[in-house]
Amino acid sequence: MSRIPEAFVEEVVSRSDIVEVIGARVPLKKKGKEFAACCPFHQEKTPSFYVTPDKQFYHCFGCGAHGNVVGFLMEFDHLDFPSAIEHLAGRLGLEIPREKGDQEKLDRIGRLRQVTAMASDWFRGNLKQSSEAIDFLKQRGLTGETAARFALGFAPAGNHLEAAMGSRAKPEELVATGLLIQRDNGDRYDRFRGRVIFPIRDPRGHVIGFGGRVIGPGEPKYLNSPETELFHKGYGVYGLYESRQVDQRPDQLIVVEGYMDVILLAQNGVAHAVATLGTATTAEQLDLLYRQTERIVFCFDGDAAGRRAAVKALSVALPLMQDGRDLRFAFLPEGEDPDSFVRAHGQTGFNRFVEQEAMGFDRFLTLHLDEAAPGDDTAARARKNKQAHQLIERMPPGSLKRLTARQVDRHHGLFGRPFREEQQATGPTAAKRPPPARSEEHAILRLALTHPRLTDRLRPAEVWHGGQPPVVIQRLLDDSLTAEDRQIAEAQNLVGIENAEIAANMLGDILAKRRQREALAEKKRQQRANLAGSPPPRD
Ligand code: UTP
Ligand code: MN
Repeated sequence: MSRIPEAFVEEVVSRSDIVEVIGARVPLKKKGKEFAACCPFHQEKTPSFYVTPDKQFYHCFGCGAHGNVVGFLMEFDHLDFPSAIEHLAGRLGLEIPREKGDQEKLDRIGRLRQVTAMASDWFRGNLKQSSEAIDFLKQRGLTGETAARFALGFAPAGNHLEAAMGSRAKPEELVATGLLIQRDNGDRYDRFRGRVIFPIRDPRGHVIGFGGRVIGPGEPKYLNSPETELFHKGYGVYGLYESRQVDQRPDQLIVVEGYMDVILLAQNGVAHAVATLGTATTAEQLDLLYRQTERIVFCFDGDAAGRRAAVKALSVALPLMQDGRDLRFAFLPEGEDPDSFVRAHGQTGFNRFVEQEAMGFDRFLTLHLDEAAPGDDTAARARKNKQAHQLIERMPPGSLKRLTARQVDRHHGLFGRPFREEQQATGPTAAKRPPPARSEEHAILRLALTHPRLTDRLRPAEVWHGGQPPVVIQRLLDDSLTAEDRQIAEAQNLVGIENAEIAANMLGDILAKRRQREALAEKKRQQRANLAGSPPPRD
């Protein structure tokens, strides 16, 4: 067996996630920025084995065992070094390069990375000299600190790159990285001229490509690097490296559409946002993101284009939706993008928006089908249910898939039968459990739980007869709902409530009906009281 190239070992180690590899073998518990477990290499009752994702190593304070992901595999799985590398490479879908040609390829990638890094430095230097670029960024509300964090630069008008690189980069290398364009007649010119430059970095910080935005009017607004040996659009994600600098294992990652969205969010304290690079989201990008976090939230414009992008993203994501993962969609108000929204409402406003408005992918799925073909009669619901199940078929087997299928059935009114069948199927004790009662209060609860914003409409005393909300609603307002409340609420089949507007209307209808009914009851009570206790006629 020939030696495994050093660069490949480095590649495999840095692309492997030590938390994932160890977590698959030892039950890890998150403790702040680290993960802890009872040490697998010696006997102990309290955890002194720590995995540090930042540094990608493990350490046991009990027995001193210590190492990186390769060392762990060698110890734990009893592998030799090449086998450990082979195992990790296999997980990443990589072939171990044994041939001389592969080594050459890795050397070339390394060389091209140097070239893009040097070019990026040159762009950064230019930014400091360019008052028009600085003015543009200032106007967009960017601070110098943010520009530095994202290594923003400037490409001046005209062709200067080749001369600026001098002997440090061959013209052929500049063409190979997409920075120079070569005409058929051999003439070369700069791809990026008169543009603010956004370097695109891979998760380890290597500059693999660039985006360039015109200053002022001009077409196209954004120009991106072409596909090169370094830069594969469908694989990269803008802002991931920068976000990982702040938090390696965020609770969630927010996917937005633009460079400026990522940057302005980060400047306003929302560090965990990334952007796909002007293309539809791919499975490779989602796979990369799900290696960082368990929840992905797509935050798109509420317009037709945003909806279309979200539907595409959903269909690409479904095959990746294994148990433990979560996928949500949040649509911004018309005319807003994350950049404008966070500047207007700040970090708290944006976070609150995502928290309240992001809907689960199952809701988005049925909402999308309802919007594409409105209609609520039996045949329409049957058709949409079938379409929904065709999409769910794409999910890998698991609880999430089964629950999604069930949720979709419920949405289309297929709740009663399957539920009872299931109860019978799960034995006599289960069959005795009464089906959840339907009640108006629980319908209200369901609406408020689906759209937390609606809760505010339930607070004013005048909404309720006698000023006192029903017990269940009071528990909602006090934030003390029981599991049973939630279960009964969940069982309410309210077609179309995924749509915020429909839900708001439904709530309005229910509350209006209650008021009418109560007013009527009040009137009758008074009539009865008048009859019973009517004062004797005066003499
Ligand atoms: P938008 O047109 O919504 O731009 O494109 P934006 O991000 O709001 O830009 P600003 O705020 O005017 O600076 C969204 C994203 O689509 C890609 C870019 O990634 C952009 O950030 N895009 C857009 C391109 O790649 N090329 C284009 O010509 C336009
Ligand atoms: Mn914008």
